[in-house]
Amino acid sequence: MSAAPITGKHYLAGRWAAPGPDTFASRSPANRNEVVGVFPRGSAAVANDAVAAAKSAYPAWRRTSRIHRAECFDKLARIIDRETDNLAHLMARECGKTLGECRAEVIEGLHMVQYVFGTGRMPVGHIVASEIAEKDAFVRRKPKGVVAVITPWNFPFAVPLWMLGPSLVEGNTVVFKPSEDTPGVGQRIVELFIEAGFPSGTVNLVHGEGPVGEALVRNSGVSVVLFTGSYDVGRRIQQLSADFPDRIVAAEMGSKSAVIVCEDCKLDLAVSAAILSAFKTSGQRCVSAGRILVAERVFDEFAKRYAATAKRLRVGDPLDANSFTGPVINETAAEKVLGYNALAKEEGAEILVPGERMTDKAHKDGFYLAPFVYRMEYGPKVRTIREEVFGPHVALIPFATNEDAVKIYNDTEYGLSLAVITENYRTMRLFREECEFGMGYVNLPCIGAEVHLPFGGVKKSGNGHPSAAGLVDTVTHKVSWTVNHGTEIKMAQGLSADIEGH
Ligand code: UN1
Repeated sequence: MSAAPITGKHYLAGRWAAPGPDTFASRSPANRNEVVGVFPRGSAAVANDAVAAAKSAYPAWRRTSRIHRAECFDKLARIIDRETDNLAHLMARECGKTLGECRAEVIEGLHMVQYVFGTGRMPVGHIVASEIAEKDAFVRRKPKGVVAVITPWNFPFAVPLWMLGPSLVEGNTVVFKPSEDTPGVGQRIVELFIEAGFPSGTVNLVHGEGPVGEALVRNSGVSVVLFTGSYDVGRRIQQLSADFPDRIVAAEMGSKSAVIVCEDCKLDLAVSAAILSAFKTSGQRCVSAGRILVAERVFDEFAKRYAATAKRLRVGDPLDANSFTGPVINETAAEKVLGYNALAKEEGAEILVPGERMTDKAHKDGFYLAPFVYRMEYGPKVRTIREEVFGPHVALIPFATNEDAVKIYNDTEYGLSLAVITENYRTMRLFREECEFGMGYVNLPCIGAEVHLPFGGVKKSGNGHPSAAGLVDTVTHKVSWTVNHGTEIKMAQGLSADIEGH
């Protein structure tokens, strides 16, 4: 089902800017002939105008009652609730995730908005004791200023709301650059904010690719950059930001997440958890499992059931309720995955499910790939069990002991998400204590986080600023505020306040 293409526009200082001649098209990954919209390609000048707009709206927004700011999110929640089906439909067309996944993502964004609204009447700090009885000491959160929000295509609704929500409720203003693969969903988000009554200049939108993002990052008016995407781009943002003395960057980057199937597991649960982890969203979640570590004693039985299930997965039209998953996002992504499939063969993989491009009539117009499953022995130089593929590509890696599994799990440069499938509480604890991760799951897939939990990894996966609710700490600065109620000065640490006699 196609609809009239969206006319993309930047949104600056409360006005939709007339699009210039330099444009790019957003196409459906399920059908490359379907244009979802045509969007202006932002320049450095547009990025700088957007930062200036956010900067001039900041003082008034910061001074607005926190409860009023939060109430804008209550209005937004009601609009999102009303628009759920339309948003899910647009998202499915533009990013190729199935309608069911898109609806769940809209709900995830809604949960963030509801969470943020709920914080409106919650404390913004705390009161602590002082060594001096006459002093009251407070810790208060203050906003930081202008926040640049640079988001990926794979969660084009929820991830922007994870970032926009905490930033705006805390009193910051925002410049939002959605992924160039999902500008239509990005623009729709801003329309919803406008309808909810967010004042002019508090949310600004720029479309475009790397250069407009880089111009935002280079702008000294930006106090915080919130980024989710590849390690290379995250690293570049961090490097450029090192020039600004109090710039904070929260970067969620790559992963090589894993499910660890222990010998005492319930095998049916293990197969389901590992299928969902690897193939929901066609393996294109940042938390998707690229590795399933399987205890040798259960390997053959697990692999047989896993491969049989993977072969049965229905890969097809995202708008068809029968599809388990849809296409990958674009041709570059398809080529990358197929390249890694070929590399796995070169590296000695035993292929269990062949994972080819799907070229029959129902799939030929989209970027459809069948699941690729292979057995790979652990080895120190094997690239396919270490590097992020971001597609329907998964290695089954046998291990002898749980201690070996810890070693194999940690032997990548990433540390985002892991799931342990076991019935043994001692085994569960071993992995929790010894593995490097941000989100850990037991007897679950390694996907499926909720917004009120910290979302962020370690090593090349993240720089210690968890996303979603956790971002409140990143977009605010904690200040102390100490008040003396006495009529003379008394100093802490026993320091003398006597000026004449020392
Ligand atoms: C992402 O993988 O890019 O945990 C975000 C999950 C989702 C969010 C994923 N709630 O699977």
